[in-house]
Amino acid sequence: IQWYPGHMAKAQKQIKERLKLVDIILEIVDARVPESSINPMIQELGQNKPVLLILNKADMADAQKTQQWIETFKKRGITAIALDAQHKAKLPMIEKVAQEILADKLAKKRAKGIRNPVIRAMCVGVPNVGKSTILNRLMHKNIAVTGNRPGVTKNQQWLKASERFEVLDTPGVLWPKFDDPAVGNKLALTGAISDVVYHADDVVVFALDYFKQFYPNQLRKTYQATDADLEQSSPELIMILTKRLGFKEDYDRFCIKFINDARQGKLGRFTLDPVPAEAKGND
Ligand code: GTP
Repeated sequence: IQWYPGHMAKAQKQIKERLKLVDIILEIVDARVPESSINPMIQELGQNKPVLLILNKADMADAQKTQQWIETFKKRGITAIALDAQHKAKLPMIEKVAQEILADKLAKKRAKGIRNPVIRAMCVGVPNVGKSTILNRLMHKNIAVTGNRPGVTKNQQWLKASERFEVLDTPGVLWPKFDDPAVGNKLALTGAISDVVYHADDVVVFALDYFKQFYPNQLRKTYQATDADLEQSSPELIMILTKRLGFKEDYDRFCIKFINDARQGKLGRFTLDPVPAEAKGND
């Protein structure tokens, strides 16, 4: 997806309209970049509707950091859960936590005589975080209800995840934020920004700096990097590993492979957003 100002304004308006129809916003982020893939605009677009933050692709993230991030968000007043959308069994958790967040609202509806109030939700998130996967998995029964409610276009559909939980069939795609070059590198490495807008070598230098510090064993394991290699600067390390893989001096080829390996989980699990100090406890 290319983000032009006009396109962004239109997308924003559409998301805002559709968010009016829901009780809760499911903001999907990538657990490997829980802070960099979040979109602060959502509060404004959703007019302060409750948000459930879903740290998806948790199977690819550093498990300890995911827990620490969930704690961090909790301290910031945001309910977050970890998810691996590939594992269907974990999806009911979304409904359960949504019920908890909306407990007061649901209690009021019950008091008014609505016995089984339905929760309506919409998924939003930057590209490639797993929005469609979650929707597909949620509607495992394939029951869709057409939206014949006020303000809903005729072909707008609600996917019925359960008797009391409906999700709008199309997710809202948010633009990634680029206020910091490191954020751009992180989003490129995890696949949230498309291949045309970043330089592979910048992304890999950034990633190697980070992996040398936090995940050196994963570089040893995946590329047979030695201790001596890991002491080199990242641009030098790119040259060494390019040769080792038999790519001669085709450094671009190595960089592209590295990015693909990271995106596909071949580099092991990692989290690129450092957890703020206060959540780390004693470790
Ligand atoms: P856009 O249409 O670009 O906005 O993407 P999206 O947010 O709808 O993401 P999509 O569901 O298409 O998923 C992107 C890729 O991530 C796909 O290859 C999915 O199979 C994969 N994926 C989604 N969820 C998970 C997950 O929890 N774990 C892993 N490992 N992969 C996932």
